[in-house]
Amino acid sequence: MAKDKFKISFSEATAAAFKSLYADKYETTGDNQVFSSDFIYENLEKPKDPSMGRFALPVFRFGKLLEDKPPSIAAKVAPESNKFLSSSLNGPVIVTVEAAGGFLNARPNAELAASSTIVAVLDSGRDYGNSTVGQQRKILIEYSSPNIAKPFGVGHLRSTMIGNSLRKIFKALDYDTMGINFLGDWGTQFGKMIVAYRRWGSEDTLKNNSVQNLLDLYVKFHETAKKNSSLEDDAREAFKKLEQGEKSETELWEKLKNISLTEFDRIYKILGVEFDWITSESFLNDKMAAAIARLERAGLTSVSEGALIVDIDDPQLPPVLLRKADGATLYATRDITGLFYRWQEHKFHQSLYIVGSAQSDYFKQLFKVIELMEKSENSDASNAMSGKTKHIEFGWVKFGDKAMSTRQGNIVILEDVIDKAAELARKRIEEKNPGLKTIEETSRIIGTGAVIFSQLSVRRHKDIRFDWDQVLNFEGETGPYLQYTHARLCSLLRNYKGTVSSDIDYTLLAGSEESRVIDLLADFPDTIEDAARDYDPFYIAAMLLKLAGAFNKFYQRKNKQGKSDKILSDDKELSAARIALVKSTQLVINKGLYLLGLEAPQEM
Ligand code: ARG
Repeated sequence: MAKDKFKISFSEATAAAFKSLYADKYETTGDNQVFSSDFIYENLEKPKDPSMGRFALPVFRFGKLLEDKPPSIAAKVAPESNKFLSSSLNGPVIVTVEAAGGFLNARPNAELAASSTIVAVLDSGRDYGNSTVGQQRKILIEYSSPNIAKPFGVGHLRSTMIGNSLRKIFKALDYDTMGINFLGDWGTQFGKMIVAYRRWGSEDTLKNNSVQNLLDLYVKFHETAKKNSSLEDDAREAFKKLEQGEKSETELWEKLKNISLTEFDRIYKILGVEFDWITSESFLNDKMAAAIARLERAGLTSVSEGALIVDIDDPQLPPVLLRKADGATLYATRDITGLFYRWQEHKFHQSLYIVGSAQSDYFKQLFKVIELMEKSENSDASNAMSGKTKHIEFGWVKFGDKAMSTRQGNIVILEDVIDKAAELARKRIEEKNPGLKTIEETSRIIGTGAVIFSQLSVRRHKDIRFDWDQVLNFEGETGPYLQYTHARLCSLLRNYKGTVSSDIDYTLLAGSEESRVIDLLADFPDTIEDAARDYDPFYIAAMLLKLAGAFNKFYQRKNKQGKSDKILSDDKELSAARIALVKSTQLVINKGLYLLGLEAPQEM
């Protein structure tokens, strides 16, 4: 991350202030702690209330060291820092410092902040916010991973959108990213599907609305199996045949698989989701024996009641089952095998699994097996996958509107959700902009945008409560609100007759509304890094909402006569300055929406 010149100046002046005010303490500490400008720089925070300044140093943490009360430290240091800042020979004061309780709050000079930010945004254009920290290190991101012959659930939607966004975020930071979709196309449930299809299904089942029909079969199987337990035996038998590659079972399985793939593909197209590698559990079938042998060689396995297990030696976690007594393999067997394969092929810097928190113990087990194995193999850390694998978990998605959930409780037919969103979006556009020519396409974009944003605007550890009115509110904290703001910015740009340039009078952008917009624009590169650090696109979603809010406040500001203070007017200089701010905001919202996986309409 390129260092911020405002923070550098502040840190240098403030370190000097500490040295001169607390000379006796400096003698014992030397160029450490608050006496070091690097240390100060690293410890800068963002004030909770943005009107307090752009960044802040929490001096209360150093009261012990300085043997002084925090408010008194801040009150003494602030004027001293300001003195150093104004006596530096670099021209105008670039930051001003203010004491507030145990904090030193800092505010960049509004004009200088405006010019450095707008020049940076307009010069980099679409690349603004990108960096080279990733140095082309390889990062595997597995997301979506729905199960064949079952509908695409809301949990899969959340995984899909988080992963799709993280792939773009890590790419922007110059990582060599690989998006993986790991389809669940193997396991005993396919034995159940085969039995159910043979009993109650027909070619018609596979035709219209087929994934729904498959779900119906699955539900019927479970209802019937409650009364008739021989059905479960039949299912085990069918799956065994499938594992042995029997023709009739394999053909049926392939049919079911193709139906699901076609359906998933359609959903990914609607959502604009991409993968670099679509793989599945069955891909690992012929690789499992070698993986099991490797674990056996490492001395990790034992036989318990005929089944092959790994006892992971953790009181919190059960042993991992690798092979059942009847020879059938399990989900975990395939995941371990898959991990070996991914490591062998890619020697990744990191490998992420974006899967709901319901599977958090499962991933702990998995990673523990790898750790134990590498320990026993004596692999050296630089050549080991342990520590490089991460379960990126997320909370539940709940539907407030009962009508949307099927009899399966949590399973929602995703296409219905998107269709409903698009339909509602269409109604709102008809009210607001009835003449819009691209209404069909735009309502799709807004509808999917609403659904996607709802998955990303909540911290990933938290649950989501999906509420229609909230999700589509053009004025709320929603995707449509951001898209609407973006369209408004585009419309201002269309109405501007000149060329947008950063060669403008920056004193015209020194107002407090403008400064707030500029602070947020300046924050965008750090926000992208925050999102990558915590594997959470939420940071970008939250920042965009603030930016759109700040821009709209500027846009709706009244002038002294109580009239709206128009962005474009007869005043050429003023219009040129303001349109540069408009263009910068449009670029950042556009890029931010892109990183989240939303489209940014020009008009709506
Ligand atoms: N197909 C699984 C499910 O729907 C998710 C797979 C997650 N990825 C993995 N490598 N286990 O529950």
